Amino acid sequence: MAADAPSARTAPAPRPGILDIASYVPGTSVLPGTGPIVKLSSNETPLGPSPKAVEAYIDEAARLARYPDGSARPLREALAAEHGLDPARIVCGAGSDELLNLLAVAYLGPGDEAIYTEHGFLVYKIAILAHGATPIVAPETNRTADVDAILALVTARTRMLFLANPNNPTGTYLPAAEIERLHASLPGHVVLVLDGAYAEYVRRDDYEASAALVAANDNVVMTRTFSKIYGLASLRIGWAYCPDAIADTLNRIRGPFNVTGPSIAAGVAAVGDHAHMEAAVAHNERWLPEMAMRLAGIGLTATPSVANFLLVHFPDTPGRTAREADAYLHQRRIILRRVEEYGFPNALRMTIGTEPENVAVLDALSAFMGAT
Ligand SMILES: Cc1ncc(COP(=O)(O)O)c(C=O)c1O
Repeated sequence: MAADAPSARTAPAPRPGILDIASYVPGTSVLPGTGPIVKLSSNETPLGPSPKAVEAYIDEAARLARYPDGSARPLREALAAEHGLDPARIVCGAGSDELLNLLAVAYLGPGDEAIYTEHGFLVYKIAILAHGATPIVAPETNRTADVDAILALVTARTRMLFLANPNNPTGTYLPAAEIERLHASLPGHVVLVLDGAYAEYVRRDDYEASAALVAANDNVVMTRTFSKIYGLASLRIGWAYCPDAIADTLNRIRGPFNVTGPSIAAGVAAVGDHAHMEAAVAHNERWLPEMAMRLAGIGLTATPSVANFLLVHFPDTPGRTAREADAYLHQRRIILRRVEEYGFPNALRMTIGTEPENVAVLDALSAFMGAT
């Protein structure tokens, strides 16, 4: 029998919900023209990776023909020793994005609801929709997650709650006591995913990345990444600390070699380089408050942040808006992050850069705000 003409065939259709997803748009990294770019749009570290991590990565070139350790054991053991955790409960992934998605694969399906907050990281919504579940958005208070508002949305259908602490793009956080209060009121069938992508930057006595909450409960997962303070974004390494049953579940569905050998080696070396980590924290501690203060000096307020970025708010005045500032900065070869899709049409998110980069942004924004 002759094959149908292509136009008469039914085209493959993705599962319901998939076409409702707006693709994640990463921070811009290119501009027309030539010359160096100041790219402060993706919360990468201005210090780069540990030289020891780069060395370990290069050394792995001799072993590229071999599959890596399937469970990333050397990396899990290094992380466990560093943070005082059980290596059997750590699951590594190709960035924390992969782990967030695997959690959705394992626990979400049609008819289920999953909650995230008003200005929460957009990957949560994508992961929820991709698995046919319904996203439920909890309002925030002062651009900060609100425990009572979240709890008010929990129903018998709720299966998961994604919370970045601190949150991107606001840089705000919830103290450990609030996270514990949230967890205490959640039904046991809800997985509480605490995304600590920026945890290493936080210097607040009342903050915890919540490993202890994971260890003491069956329904809390903490995710972490090597893409931010460790400066290894391109290697795609994330990890999750899980209750035994959730680690077992994720290990059943992840790719058998989901973290590459060079990534494992570089990650182990990065974890061991405490001096590099301390330098990154010290740089951020100096420049985060300094940038907020100097931006205020030119008439721009930033949401108080505990991470390595600032959400900078612009006036509504024509000629002074975030959209116009963005275009102006591009002319000066500076890229910050537009955050309209996070509910901030008149703000830009700026990653803390090197001193010259920070000064370049201040000079440009000062000229922008002063221009007539
Ligand atoms: C809150 C949050 N979680 C997770 C990620 C993803 O990190 P990874 O590079 O590990 O996939 C990011 C990256 O921007 C983030 O901001």
